[in-house]
Amino acid sequence: MVKAKNTGSKSSPKPPRIAIAVVIMAAGKGTRLKSKHPKVLHEVGGKPILAHVIATAKKVAPAQDIFVIIGHEAERVREAVGGTGVNFVLQAEQRGTGHALMVTRDALSGNRYDQVIVLSGDAPLITAETVKRLSDFHTAQKATMTLLSADLDNPYGYGRVLRKGGRAEVQAIVEEKSATAQQRKVREINAGFYAFDAPALYEYIDRLSTANPHGEYYLTDMAGVFHRARKKVVAIKTEDPSEVLGSNTRMEMMMLDACLRLAKCRALLEAGVTIFYPHTCVIDSDVEVGADTVIEPFVQLLGHTKIGEDCRIRSYSVIGNSVLGDRVTVKPGTVMEASRVGAGAVLGPYTHMRPGSEVGEGAHLGNFVETKKIKLGKGSKANHLSYLGDAEIGEGVNIGAGTITCNYDGVNKHKTVIEDGAFIGSDSTLVAPVTIGRGSYVAAASCITDDVPEDALALGRARQSVKEGWAREKREAQKEKDR
Ligand code: UD1
Ligand code: CA
Repeated sequence: MVKAKNTGSKSSPKPPRIAIAVVIMAAGKGTRLKSKHPKVLHEVGGKPILAHVIATAKKVAPAQDIFVIIGHEAERVREAVGGTGVNFVLQAEQRGTGHALMVTRDALSGNRYDQVIVLSGDAPLITAETVKRLSDFHTAQKATMTLLSADLDNPYGYGRVLRKGGRAEVQAIVEEKSATAQQRKVREINAGFYAFDAPALYEYIDRLSTANPHGEYYLTDMAGVFHRARKKVVAIKTEDPSEVLGSNTRMEMMMLDACLRLAKCRALLEAGVTIFYPHTCVIDSDVEVGADTVIEPFVQLLGHTKIGEDCRIRSYSVIGNSVLGDRVTVKPGTVMEASRVGAGAVLGPYTHMRPGSEVGEGAHLGNFVETKKIKLGKGSKANHLSYLGDAEIGEGVNIGAGTITCNYDGVNKHKTVIEDGAFIGSDSTLVAPVTIGRGSYVAAASCITDDVPEDALALGRARQSVKEGWAREKREAQKEKDR
């Protein structure tokens, strides 16, 4: 049932383009995880399992032809992956994988599509290449149903692929619970990925029954249904069985996560990044790192973090959703979220950069400096023990140890402006809103409540008084008492 959809020039003998829909089954609860969260939203490799499957689907078909079946906690799932632009189909009651496809009938039938590819929303390692191979094989074989299979050493728990006398065509898929002892010995398993002839799927799907140990409609039973109707059912084997691993249990999820992270490290190593002890690092799938950057053990790079070339990220640093330029040094124990760092900057050890921190080229932030929503200009330094929040700090500014921007009056946040070349003495408190003028000095331990003009010196502290001999007199008085 291959229909020509492209109306290209008649002289070119290109194979006819077929209209393909991709359906992702993601409505199940995931009972075996013992979790209050839906299975497909559990994260592996730093993002929801379903997000990986959608990313793969988008390499095969445009978002408008991708249909995600949601049911358990449908709104949460929709919210988590809605940004991908895919369609959602609600399976209000989850009555099995066959039932999941039944509810797609309205969205997909009516000759819009020639082929329906079905992916399991809980198997994130599947590659676009394998899905395309499945689809092309299905087309080439002129099959009604093609399933992806794999030979596993331990096939326990999976559906088994039954063929008559080792023939190419598949007779049926039998689930673990329904299988005979003889059938359980079959090592070829059903991976949970299929290609169907679209019209045939919707014509025959009502023949599924719930006569099985779970009382569910099994999509896998379509193999037997088509076989009995003398329609062609074939299987194609994956070259890499780890691709089809699902996430039914926490143990399986942990293994998927390890696979994804190791693959990520491998890709970075190949792209010229040095990673020492990669199995101690946690690097999310979408992270980018430039060549000749060195990542030390026990580093976490999370979310959409992007790191330039020739950087060094030292141990125990946790960097999330941040962008670092080239030649940045991040010393041990630095924590950073949603921040930006210019080339050649030096951070840490133990710097805490909260969202909205923007550090200019060659700037330094040292130990126990906390920042939030600040701009720190080129070459400026805050090397020790400071809190800098809601501040705009110019270039070449020196911020002494213990400086605090008092940005919060208990109700509202206010801004501190420190202009280029200013020098803030140690242990100063800058009570916002306040501006420290260009090139000015703030004396150590000042409490600054009024703006400081350009090139001025501001002193905001009590004058020191000295009582000569006071300590000696105190000691002598004590001695007298003790006698
Ligand atoms: C399924 C196959 C099994 C195969 C295995 C591969 C069936 C009956 N069995 O078993 O042959 O070896 O995958 O991993 O299909 N889902 C829905 N709606 C439902 C039920 C499930 O959308 O009503 C979704 C789930 O969220 C999940 C996917 O379908 O993403 C597969 O369901 P699951 O229960 O994990 O099937 P398995 O027991 O793994
Ligand atoms: Ca599964």
